[in-house]
Amino acid sequence: MSSSDRPEYVQQNVANWTRANTEYTDASAARAWAQDEITWGVFETPESELNLLGDVSGLDIVELGCGTAYFSAWLARRGARVVGVDPTPAQLATARRLQEETGIEFPLIEAIGEDVPLPDSSFDVVHSEYGASLWADPYRWIPEAARLLRPGGRLIFLCNSIVCALCMTMDGVGEQLVRPQLGLRKVEWPDTGEVEFQLGHGDWIDLLRANGFEIERLVELFARPDAETHSYYKYVTPDWARKWPADEVWVARKASTRRRRLEADRASPGRPSSARADVASTPNRGPANPKRG
Ligand SMILES: C[S@@+](CC[C@H](N)C(=O)[O-])C[C@H]1O[C@@H](n2cnc3c(N)ncnc32)[C@H](O)[C@@H]1O
Repeated sequence: MSSSDRPEYVQQNVANWTRANTEYTDASAARAWAQDEITWGVFETPESELNLLGDVSGLDIVELGCGTAYFSAWLARRGARVVGVDPTPAQLATARRLQEETGIEFPLIEAIGEDVPLPDSSFDVVHSEYGASLWADPYRWIPEAARLLRPGGRLIFLCNSIVCALCMTMDGVGEQLVRPQLGLRKVEWPDTGEVEFQLGHGDWIDLLRANGFEIERLVELFARPDAETHSYYKYVTPDWARKWPADEVWVARKASTRRRRLEADRASPGRPSSARADVASTPNRGPANPKRG
């Protein structure tokens, strides 16, 4: 999909992430890339406490909405073969600069999470940290994630908690609900024109299951006692996030082909499962990593 064919919300979000790159992400990227520990969420809960990723060494991982690609760099340093995907050229330019400066190199692809130019069934993990997980339409990027994963592969993504999304105003996250959860999907911000996507837990579960995922974990992240307000993402305070979760991480596994056939048989008995759509059996479109061919 060429940049001009993208939905209008993407163009708006790319403009905002270009501005964010000038204001913050370019200048902060070197520090983020250099960080030894993997952390999660606005208040940086260490992976060593959460154990969401496990051993990633030797795994093929694609990050959808990689931004300046610091998370991909953390995974590459731990032995994963990563590919970063993002629609904002300025974010990718920063990621390329850091690749040159650090020598940690992996493919970077300019694309949206809703339409990824990579082959079917070619990754062990699809990951997103406030990338596609917040800025892409979930009803389009979750099917893409399912397509990209090998059977048994994991989808791991971090986004705002639903309670945070329901309490978020232009002045930050308050202690009152400010929008209905019923019908919530797209949130448009009148000041910047940014468009985010938020779902309640029931809708996430239905969407993930409809795309052949089994949900393994939902981890809600709170601020620790010593947490401080983030220098750029100031919309939520540690005080608030000691009472309610600021972010949440979902871990889901793409069911094996056999398991999905059994479920399909149960759903429509009498029809042979080979006659039904089976994502895992779609032809492989080529290698996952364009550089490794
Ligand atoms: C908060 S940053 C992601 C941070 C990232 N984890 C990192 O390591 O820098 C959000 C990113 O989402 C990207 N984005 C915006 N719309 C997107 C879409 N439709 N699909 C995928 N990514 C998108 C933006 O370009 C931006 O770089």
